[in-house]
Amino acid sequence: MAQPRILLFDSGMGGLTVARAVAHQMPDAHLIYAADNAAFPYGAWKEKELVKRIVMVIGRLIELAQPDVVVVACNTASTIALAELRAVYAVPFVGTVPAIKPAAAQTRSNVIGVLATPGTVSREYTHSLIHTFAFHCKVFLHGAPRLAEIAEQKLRGHAIDMEELKREVAPVFRKRDGKQTDVVVLACTHYPLITAEIARVAPWAVTYIDPAPAIARRTADIVEETPLKVADANVPAHGTVVLTSARGSASETLAAYASMGFPQHRVIDLPA
Ligand code: DGL
Repeated sequence: MAQPRILLFDSGMGGLTVARAVAHQMPDAHLIYAADNAAFPYGAWKEKELVKRIVMVIGRLIELAQPDVVVVACNTASTIALAELRAVYAVPFVGTVPAIKPAAAQTRSNVIGVLATPGTVSREYTHSLIHTFAFHCKVFLHGAPRLAEIAEQKLRGHAIDMEELKREVAPVFRKRDGKQTDVVVLACTHYPLITAEIARVAPWAVTYIDPAPAIARRTADIVEETPLKVADANVPAHGTVVLTSARGSASETLAAYASMGFPQHRVIDLPA
C-alpha cells in the first residue's frame, strides 16, 4: 500500500511535538520535517515579511518533498499564513491554531491562560478565537519572548534557567474575583517540550492543553480523503529534517532532531 508523505513545518524544533503525535497516529506514514531555522524565532517577525517568507519557504519545500499533505506545525505561522498558503498551493494544509475552544470547554473557573509567542498574541486570528469561543471567560494572553528558545535549549541538552522560565510563564497564572487560572493553552508548538518544567515553576497546578493529538487526528482524516502522489527518487527519506541554514546543523541540534525521530538531514540554504 502507498505510504502517505507528510511534510511538517515549523520555524524550529517545536513542530517535533506535532510530528511525534502524527507518528503515533500514523506509524506507516513517510514523515519529512522542515525547520526554517534561518529565520528562527518567528515570534519576533513583522506580519507582512513573515507571510512572504513562509509562502516562499513552503513553496521550496513542496518542490523538494512532494508531500500529499502539509502540516503547518506552528501557531505563529498558521495564524497569519494559512489562508495565503491555501490560495497559492494546491496541496492540502493542516494548521495549528491556539486551542482556545477546548480550553473554554474544560475550564471550571472560567479563568484561562494562553501562552504563545509575541507574534501569535498580536494576531487578529487569536483575538477572534477568544471572542468566539471564550467570550464568557477571562483570558490572560501572554506573548513569552524567550520560551521557544528555552525549549530548544532543553532539547539540545542544555540546562534550563528555572528563574527565567518562571518569569516567562508567570503572567498567565492569575486570580480574578476569588477564582484562578485552571487551564493553560500551550499556543506555541515548542512549549509542550517543556511542560514538566513549566509545571514545576507554576504557582499552582493547572491543566495544560497540547493540541498535538488533535492535529494528528485531523491530519489522518485529511490523508484518508487525499489521493496519494507518486514521488520521484530525490525525495528526502522518511525521518529527514530539512533545514534552511547550516547554522542549525551543529552536532547537538542534529542529535536533538534524531532523538525525536529525524536522524537524517538536508540543508537548503534560504537566508532570512
Ligand atoms: N513553534 C512556533 C509556534 O508554534 C513558533 C516559535 C517561534 O519561532 O517563535 O508558534
